[in-house]
Amino acid sequence: MLFTIFAGVLCLLNNVAGEPWPFDVTTISAPDGSITARFVSIGATLTELWVKDKFGEARDVILGYDDNTKLLTDPAHPFFNPIVGRYANRIKNGTFSIPITKDPQPPGPDVYHTPLNDADGQATLHGGTIGWDRRNWTIASRSTSSVTYHHPDAADEGFPGNVSAFATHTVENGGILKTTVHATATHLTPIMLTQHVYWNLDAFQGSENILNHHLRVDASRVVEVDGDFIPTGKFVNVSDTPWDFREAQPIDYRFGEAVGLCGPGCIGYDHCWIYDHDETTQPGLSLWSDVSGIRLDIATSNPATQVFTAYWLGLEGIPRKKVHGGPSVNYTYWAGVAIEQEGYIDAINTPEWGVDQIYGPDRDYIWSSTYKFSIVT
Ligand SMILES: *[C@@H]1O[C@H](CO)[C@@H](O)[C@H](O)[C@H]1NC(C)=O
Ligand SMILES: *[C@@H]1O[C@H](CO)[C@@H](O)[C@H](O)[C@H]1NC(C)=O
Ligand SMILES: *[C@@H]1O[C@H](CO)[C@@H](O)[C@H](O)[C@H]1NC(C)=O
Ligand SMILES: *[C@@H]1O[C@H](CO)[C@@H](O)[C@H](O)[C@H]1NC(C)=O
Ligand SMILES: *[C@@H]1O[C@H](CO)[C@@H](O)[C@H](O)[C@H]1NC(C)=O
Repeated sequence: MLFTIFAGVLCLLNNVAGEPWPFDVTTISAPDGSITARFVSIGATLTELWVKDKFGEARDVILGYDDNTKLLTDPAHPFFNPIVGRYANRIKNGTFSIPITKDPQPPGPDVYHTPLNDADGQATLHGGTIGWDRRNWTIASRSTSSVTYHHPDAADEGFPGNVSAFATHTVENGGILKTTVHATATHLTPIMLTQHVYWNLDAFQGSENILNHHLRVDASRVVEVDGDFIPTGKFVNVSDTPWDFREAQPIDYRFGEAVGLCGPGCIGYDHCWIYDHDETTQPGLSLWSDVSGIRLDIATSNPATQVFTAYWLGLEGIPRKKVHGGPSVNYTYWAGVAIEQEGYIDAINTPEWGVDQIYGPDRDYIWSSTYKFSIVT
């Protein structure tokens, strides 16, 4: 009792100071015990996600760190499971204008420049040098099964106007995690968010990587990109290509043809699939492993998904979490697959697509995805 009061006072002081520790862990669980998720405020980041395997045992199916301060300081910066913004993926030459244009050097007046933190200074990646994933969001509200984080983005990283974003994570009976983001803006600005979750549905029990996972993506097209992973404006028809996952396939089923696809010397994928249908109610993407028997179905309000098979983790030397057999063992090539529900990438420099990603006082931004877990039958 005394302790509770004492802890409560401490917590209050912390809040009054206005700078709550961004690595405090918040745990939420579904009433039926089917799913437990842990988060930290920095990046509104998911740090653990426990769901049951075919033996009824819980596994933590996402990559991450035992020491969450690494989310802020790890130079490898793999984006382990945060909300990514204000603009996910790449922006060509860190430049855009409003209204948008194809002109690489827009005449203005409303031309904006964001940090060139990717592709040897040729692009902005994931919101700039300090994107939303490395910002200290604060808890706006919480219950035993839900937590809402708030981030006021005051024209950070060269983007115009202030954006106020609320991210809500909720777990529900039947193994469901729902994440929604609602953002409002004071001025016209691009907003395109993702939740950058790295999955490994075996949690390193019975397999070392995700190459045995089965993947299905309801998409006939992927965005064609240049050597810097900037869209050319065209789409690739997945028919007869290694990008065809319209019927479920093992992730590596055509890796023989995937050499160099995700960059020089990189084997696997880092591409934006455009969903064929409205995937809000029907899952647009499924992933499962026969080893754990865990199946994930993702339904989303987003028109696209990035699938990144995380080849580069093999070069980063990031220790696995304890529950993944670390820390003496590192995450290796293809240790996880990042699956990122998103908008059309760099649509703000690709006006020929007719995709409107400019939000403002008269247009709020909404992002939502539902992750449903079940056992492979
Ligand atoms: C990139 O943007 C800069 C302005 O920041 C401009 O000077 C340069 O010409 C642009 N590069 C290309 C290739 O358009
Ligand atoms: C977030 O909080 C950490 C720890 O207090 C601090 O080191 C960091 O500078 C803060 N980040 C930002 C962007 O304010
Ligand atoms: C944007 O945020 C900054 C910093 O909090 C504040 O000073 C400014 O008044 C805000 N602008 C608008 C238009 O809300
Ligand atoms: C993709 O190619 C297949 C086989 O050539 C063709 O039947 C299909 O119509 C094409 N789809 C699109 C969207 O162009
Ligand atoms: C793991 O990565 C670290 C660098 O962080 C490296 O020193 C170590 O040798 C690696 N361990 C293994 C088993 O490869």
